[in-house]
Amino acid sequence: MDVKLFGVVGGGTMGNGIAHAAAASGFQVLLCEVDQALCDKALRTIDKNLQRGVDKGKMSPGQKAEVLGRIRTSTRLEDMAGADIAVEAVVENFEVKKGVFQKLDAVLAPAALLASNTSSISITKLAACTKRPGKVIGMHFMNPVPVMQLVEVIRGIATDDEVLQEVMSLAKAMGKTPVEVNDYPGFVSNRVLMPMINEAIYCLMEGVGTPEAIDTVMKLGMNHPMGPLTLADLIGLDTCLFILNVLHEGLGDPKYRPCPLLVKMVDAGFLGRKTGRGFYKY
Ligand code: CAA
Repeated sequence: MDVKLFGVVGGGTMGNGIAHAAAASGFQVLLCEVDQALCDKALRTIDKNLQRGVDKGKMSPGQKAEVLGRIRTSTRLEDMAGADIAVEAVVENFEVKKGVFQKLDAVLAPAALLASNTSSISITKLAACTKRPGKVIGMHFMNPVPVMQLVEVIRGIATDDEVLQEVMSLAKAMGKTPVEVNDYPGFVSNRVLMPMINEAIYCLMEGVGTPEAIDTVMKLGMNHPMGPLTLADLIGLDTCLFILNVLHEGLGDPKYRPCPLLVKMVDAGFLGRKTGRGFYKY
């Protein structure tokens, strides 16, 4: 697939990371957000993250400017009309994603692909909201997107074989390693990750260890780059709770029930790094 324009809808943590990674691998990117302030915020974040590379001498200021020069922003989804693929990275809410998918389906060229960066919403269900279910696929990037190697490529029940192959190639062209998985709740990444995070929260709730102790056991004992509670704070505790509920409801097994302490933290508005307080203070 020749991607002349790479569309990204949503400029939050995942969306700006996807736009950053696509532009850094040479694609022309159009990033859509609901208002200009959010477009500007996404560009500032990308600028700051690119500057890390400049500060470490891994990228020249000129190269940084070239990457930024490949990213345009818009507040109108209609501007996605020229995109060969649009990757949706808006809030994890089915109704919101459905609205975005239906608008994109109406404006994109018939051959264009529609991908979702959802961490747990059914690709099959999103595809069924469009008139192009064969061209709908999951492209699940990991946080922080510019750094993490994996793209979990999720095939819905109706996803065409060629579309799967095109998206696998596109992820490779972005310097990532794609892994194909099928569409079941939580896919592979969150089906395996979230029960571990949930169990770490149970350990904390039951007083088995302090947050530092739990994280250090997993960091030093299992060579994880961050402990599960630090990672939960990075992902966002509301997101962790949402995904656990998707696993619990979608698979119907009580082993996925969210830990009451996680529910309490979310009720308190302690959502992790983004609110300055989660299992740790920031
Ligand atoms: N943008 C660009 N570069 C970034 C960055 C960002 N947002 N964050 C970190 N980096 C870069 C740093 O500049 C640094 O670059 P160099 O190697 O060139 O020096 C490199 O990443 C490592 O960063 P640090 O030295 O600051 O810190 P670190 O070595 O502790 O690594 C980390 C940070 C990469 C985040 C590492 O701790 C890690 O891998 N953590 C686990 C992350 C993880 O599990 N992510 C998946 C979450 S689950 C998910 O995303 C899916 C879901 O559906 C919930």
